[in-house]
Amino acid sequence: MTKKLTTSWGAPVGDNQNSITAGQRGPVLIQDVHLLEKLAHFNRERVPERVVHAKGAGAYGTFTVTNDVSKYTKAKLFNGVGKETDMFIRFSTVAGELGSADTVRDPRGFAVKFYTEEGNYDIVGNNTPVFFIRDAIKFPDFIHTQKRDPRTHLKNPTAVWDFWSHSPESLHQVTILMSDRGIPATLRHMHGYGSHTFKWVNAEGQAVWVKYHFRTEQGVKNLDVDLAAKLAGENPDYHTEDLFNAIEKGDFPAWKLYVQIMPLEDADTYRFDPFDVTKVWSQKDYPLIEVGRMVLNKNPENYFAEVEQATFSPGTFVPGVEASPDKMLQGRLFAYGDAHRYRVGANHNQLPVNRPKAEVNNHQRDGFMAGDGNGGRSVYYEPNSFGGPNEVPEAKVTPFDVTGQAAQVAYDHDDHYTQAGDLYRLLSEEERTRLVANIVGAMKPVELEEIKLRQISHFYKADPEYGTRIAEGLGLAVPQQA
Ligand code: HEM
Repeated sequence: MTKKLTTSWGAPVGDNQNSITAGQRGPVLIQDVHLLEKLAHFNRERVPERVVHAKGAGAYGTFTVTNDVSKYTKAKLFNGVGKETDMFIRFSTVAGELGSADTVRDPRGFAVKFYTEEGNYDIVGNNTPVFFIRDAIKFPDFIHTQKRDPRTHLKNPTAVWDFWSHSPESLHQVTILMSDRGIPATLRHMHGYGSHTFKWVNAEGQAVWVKYHFRTEQGVKNLDVDLAAKLAGENPDYHTEDLFNAIEKGDFPAWKLYVQIMPLEDADTYRFDPFDVTKVWSQKDYPLIEVGRMVLNKNPENYFAEVEQATFSPGTFVPGVEASPDKMLQGRLFAYGDAHRYRVGANHNQLPVNRPKAEVNNHQRDGFMAGDGNGGRSVYYEPNSFGGPNEVPEAKVTPFDVTGQAAQVAYDHDDHYTQAGDLYRLLSEEERTRLVANIVGAMKPVELEEIKLRQISHFYKADPEYGTRIAEGLGLAVPQQA
């Protein structure tokens, strides 16, 4: 039987086509409360889009442990072969707005939420193992250059390359971005990375440093730039559509999760700072260790409810996973929760997509949209004499040493060039040619020659051939020395 149409307060609606007017030609009456509510609700249909990563696609899936790693972490989701945990993922582009095209050159967000028995655990990474900057204090400036110019409301390549040329730590990520991997064929054909270094702690309280790698089982495939440009015009939702259709027809995409593990003490002697997110750890030094397999097998029922309102934070930890001193990660531990409180509201974790499957007991109460019973009559403060929820001492943070003076200290290892150069040297001749063409094309509109020259000198320092080819492509002088 067809359901009755009702107002949001559940009363039946008699007429949803004609407003109440004073006769045939009379004005609309303010007593038409159904009309008022309908228009007013419509005006409030949008929440602020994410300030970055606004355009995205999401899906549900299952994570299954294939290799027990309990000697490294007590996190239950990674323990016991065969252990299954429900999860939700959101892929995204970074710079574009909510309605922007999918097939642009941009890193892709790779945000995973595991609904574990000990609360939610989020890995909020990208499809690249490194990032453009390594201190959160630079993030708002960096993102300003990726967004629209305040005057023209256009993208501004001069700002982009000005910032990068003044921030040579970006060179590694710029090289990845401008390579074939800068435009994945689909969201299914790319790897994902936690990027940062995190700390894993086992049941004995022993800690290691860890990096996450999700490796696509579909294989890495990228889009040809001309096809990508054509698709951006003809089907701006190409990646969103591909993911939805693949899952809908049962062609479930899968990734294997691996980790690199570094003993705590190695961080003091490794040849670069292992908390610097512009660097990768050599897989020769720290080989990939398999952990599990993630399969995406269910599309959301409602985009706004489940994808737009999803909130991921790199600080959403469970026992067994902790922060590292990575300065970017430290800044992100603040930024995401703050974004969620602004964008979705203080009670965002009560929404079905964000709600933990573990029981939630705490003393938080009230706030906009307290939709879960608000703790009912249970005790709302601590300490108390009424058997309120108790602390779990095993969940305390693992003690760690801090030394030195508080100051604005730069990373003490400033080699921005070796890893970018290694990556360039790893590419085939065809890949180098496309990389150079992509960079030359992107740098041509830069207004100041000084910016181009500064950036060329960075490419040159990474590899003289790299710098030379870009200088030649731009018709500029090749730097004389590295
Ligand atoms: C989204 C800030 C670096 C990956 C966001 C959002 C903010 C933000 C405010 C929007 C959150 C929301 O509205 O729900 C920052 C800051 C950074 C930083 C301050 C540096 C200090 C990074 C890095 C990565 C990353 C290094 C990847 C390794 C993502 C992803 C999303 C996101 C995947 C989208 C999450 C989703 O799908 O909802 N970031 N970000 N961000 N960021 Fe970052």
